[in-house]
Amino acid sequence: MPLKVSPSIIAGDQARLGDEVRAIEAAGADMVHLDVMDGHFVPNLTLGPGIVKDLRPHARLVFDCHLMLSEPGRYVEAFAGAGADRISIHVEVPGAADVLRAIRALGKAPGLALNPDTPPDDAVRLAADVDFFLVMTVHPGFYGQKMIAETLDKIGLLVQTMRALGRDPAVQVDGGVTPENAGRIEAAGATEVVAGAAVFRAADYRQAIEALRRGTRDR
Ligand code: DX5
Ligand code: ZN
Repeated sequence: MPLKVSPSIIAGDQARLGDEVRAIEAAGADMVHLDVMDGHFVPNLTLGPGIVKDLRPHARLVFDCHLMLSEPGRYVEAFAGAGADRISIHVEVPGAADVLRAIRALGKAPGLALNPDTPPDDAVRLAADVDFFLVMTVHPGFYGQKMIAETLDKIGLLVQTMRALGRDPAVQVDGGVTPENAGRIEAAGATEVVAGAAVFRAADYRQAIEALRRGTRDR
């Protein structure tokens, strides 16, 4: 299976987000990644449910919302109502298990994200409550950073854990993904990549998405 590609609109033109979402849909993206930051869990601020709601009519793409929030439980209902299809929260926040179940109860796909320095153990324990894992390969907050390659070592255990539960493994890699390292990411067992700069800073979105999906081998 080729890697699924979820372009992150944080790297797009923030004054033209509707156009950017339509453009990546037309360019063949599998999803759109919406990075939600609260200036507390991460040192940056981005968008809220109002923007997600207004973007929703612009595309049929799966809306893949990544909540980098200290208190995601306060907002999951708002994002679900705004049109999120998948909602990922971080394993580092207190009460993550309850929030994952709340996302499921809202009829949305729950995902669990791990920061680069977070060992996989707690995430493994919550595997039954998630539809996918999100392995952060940069410290979250900003697009355009360089991938921390050692973080890919966690993927194998997460894949194994999902298989042991009889599930198809779904592991998304987020941060510093490029056509040059996509092959290595795929070989590590990931099924999806998020890409900010690699898509939105490219001259041609379609070519950029296809280059990521092909996973140019650099091993
Ligand atoms: C990082 C975000 C990522 C990131 C992706 O805080 O969660 O989605 O901005 O951008 P690139 O692919 O440029 O690292
Ligand atoms: Zn993200």
